[in-house]
Amino acid sequence: MAEKDVYILGIESSCDETSAAVVLNGRKCLSNVIASQIELHRRFGGVVPEIAGRNHLLAVMPVVDKALSEAGIGMDKLDAIAVTYGPGLIGCLLVGVAAAKAMAYALGIPLIKTDHIQGHIAANFIAFPQLEPPLLALVASGGHTSIVSVEDYNTFVLVSATLDDAIGESFDKVARILGLPYPGGPEIDRHGRQGKANIKFCPNLHVRGDLAYSFSGLKTAVVNYVHNLRQRGEEIPVDDICASFTAEAVGYTVDTFIRCAKERGKKNLALAGGVAANTYLRSQLAAECEKNGFTLFVPPPVLCTDNAAMIAARGYYSFIAGKDEAGLDLNAKSVL
Ligand code: KG4
Ligand code: ZN
Repeated sequence: MAEKDVYILGIESSCDETSAAVVLNGRKCLSNVIASQIELHRRFGGVVPEIAGRNHLLAVMPVVDKALSEAGIGMDKLDAIAVTYGPGLIGCLLVGVAAAKAMAYALGIPLIKTDHIQGHIAANFIAFPQLEPPLLALVASGGHTSIVSVEDYNTFVLVSATLDDAIGESFDKVARILGLPYPGGPEIDRHGRQGKANIKFCPNLHVRGDLAYSFSGLKTAVVNYVHNLRQRGEEIPVDDICASFTAEAVGYTVDTFIRCAKERGKKNLALAGGVAANTYLRSQLAAECEKNGFTLFVPPPVLCTDNAAMIAARGYYSFIAGKDEAGLDLNAKSVL
């Protein structure tokens, strides 16, 4: 812990949420303002990068002002600004990066470049103030499905990733083929709770030897199943399809994560990313952790989906270690 209180302003704009937050000492969230663009993108069935970038531009400074006023502090109180510089949509990231650069320069305080995925994991440090590394994290979001070993506050080792689609992307695509609104994950969650998991889409979906993930086969199997029913003019059992798809996707995700934790001898497991809001994933993982003697940490849904508090929390640990300070030449990166 640093000797004096450290106030970090976090800025996040990697996809369709413009967010700013003030976090005290990496753990205490003083504000976490999130301007969601979901309504704007819904009619297109997904995020339109150009529209998202333009709306970040409109939202970013009002969101920062609100984050400061909700935290009850002025800009002069800030010690550093942490900003997501990747991975994400380039035109979106650039807005947050440019705003953060301008404010850090004007205030004469450090600019900390922050990895979005590491930020998702750091959400756990806010939700669980006593949690300390080492831990093994499953990042399940719209853009990523990764297992990350957090060795210490500043050492994140990628253990496994997806070879193709991210789990959230497959939820969104399946929802789309079923005619459910964007974002599809929460819709599938809701419908799945009312249905029966009585369809097997991908009997060969098993934990891979290299522990990598792959969701495109399962997604394609669901899409083909729905197309076949439509071609035959048969009724689409939406609830049962959602329940069955969720059972398969989540079962496989949890099995891989648990196998990885056993192989690595990790005891503390953490969940992160938007799909961590999924009720079945939360309950299945909790049950498996209990069975296998792991301690599981799952942040509340508002800290699972994109937000700037997680970025400020991650940035705090870089700041106190004197790492990841960026100059005014910082560029956004779609892939890190
Ligand atoms: O982490 P996030 O907000 O953005 C990325 O960094 O990608 O994750 C968004 C993803 C979307 O794919 C959304 O459908 C999914 O998280 N999601 C869910 C649920 N809530 C959000 N997926 C399944 N069940 C949910 N309850
Ligand atoms: Zn995210």
